[in-house]
Amino acid sequence: MKSAKEVVETDLDYICDNLGAELSAMAGKELLIVGGAGFLGYYLVQSVLHANRIGRARPPVQVTVYDNYSRGMPSWLSDLSSDTNLTLVRHDITDPLPHHIRDFDYIVHGGSIASPTYYRQYPIETMDANVNGVRTLLEYARRQGDRGKPLDGFLFFSSSEIYGDPTPDDIPTPETYRGSVSCTGPRACYDESKRYGETLCVNFARQHGVPAKTARPFNNIGPGLKISDRRVLPDFARDVLAGRDIVMLSDGGPRRTFCYVADAVIGYYKILVRGHVGEAYNIGVESPEISVAELADRVARLARELFGYRG
Ligand SMILES: NC(=O)c1ccc[n+]([C@@H]2O[C@H](COP(=O)([O-])OP(=O)(O)OC[C@H]3O[C@@H](n4cnc5c(N)ncnc54)[C@H](O)[C@@H]3O)[C@@H](O)[C@H]2O)c1
Repeated sequence: MKSAKEVVETDLDYICDNLGAELSAMAGKELLIVGGAGFLGYYLVQSVLHANRIGRARPPVQVTVYDNYSRGMPSWLSDLSSDTNLTLVRHDITDPLPHHIRDFDYIVHGGSIASPTYYRQYPIETMDANVNGVRTLLEYARRQGDRGKPLDGFLFFSSSEIYGDPTPDDIPTPETYRGSVSCTGPRACYDESKRYGETLCVNFARQHGVPAKTARPFNNIGPGLKISDRRVLPDFARDVLAGRDIVMLSDGGPRRTFCYVADAVIGYYKILVRGHVGEAYNIGVESPEISVAELADRVARLARELFGYRG
């Protein structure tokens, strides 16, 4: 069995192998990743620094991370703090931008509460990050363009949740599906603010020429996902590691696809560099679609094989 470090190294090589043109385009450029301390940030940040190290991006990409570290700075990120191509800034994207901000060539906005448990607890903060946060960044991108330094790419992280509850005929869900979403339900703070964030991106692209594109991730999983995150897979893993039965919060019927994060990150950088301005892209897999109960079974089976789990 591979160690965790070996898994990550293999994934970083795999990501770089699949991003030849994109890494060449980003070489020597300034990249800002808002929310870079999170789960997707784990590979978004590390893959580019890895590309710098192995000579796939020459001159190196300069990476800046803005994050409010609301749940602390993760150790993988503090371990990277001596990398001269990385700048870490504690910043909440709902606040005005720091006045020492530099010019950027690429901006990625993934700074939002993403776990349903936490966005239900902090709905206003969630809306602010997705509406005011993206607005602040789009305004900055527009001003930079007005100063004669237009960005090369701007990527907003929306979500598959903007589709709400599609009819069975609309699964798998095409980007053209308009959504079936409640504007006042318990998930609305997330779904609706992502929808409005997308609308801002489209209109800053049309009106001001900001090269904004949107990614709609469908359940990414893999290294970097915090065990305390309260998303389904970490919850099951936590039960298994504690040696107790897996607890499902539903009857296990809801069906989902799960996309490995290394594959998804390749998609995100392709959108950032080569995606059509004003477009939104689904990033996920179409199959297999499995029920939450099947997921629990798979986790239990694997844990039995790997370390004799008896739950
Ligand atoms: N992971 C998925 O499967 C998935 C699915 C759909 C959408 N998304 C979206 O992708 C983005 C990244 O998701 P993730 O899974 O990495 O989430 P995450 O919670 O692991 O990471 C988000 C990061 O953003 C930071 N953050 C939150 N609010 C902030 C603010 N106001 N200012 C600055 N930083 C802030 C957090 O501290 C965290 O480090 C989010 O916008 C999320 O909504 C992810």
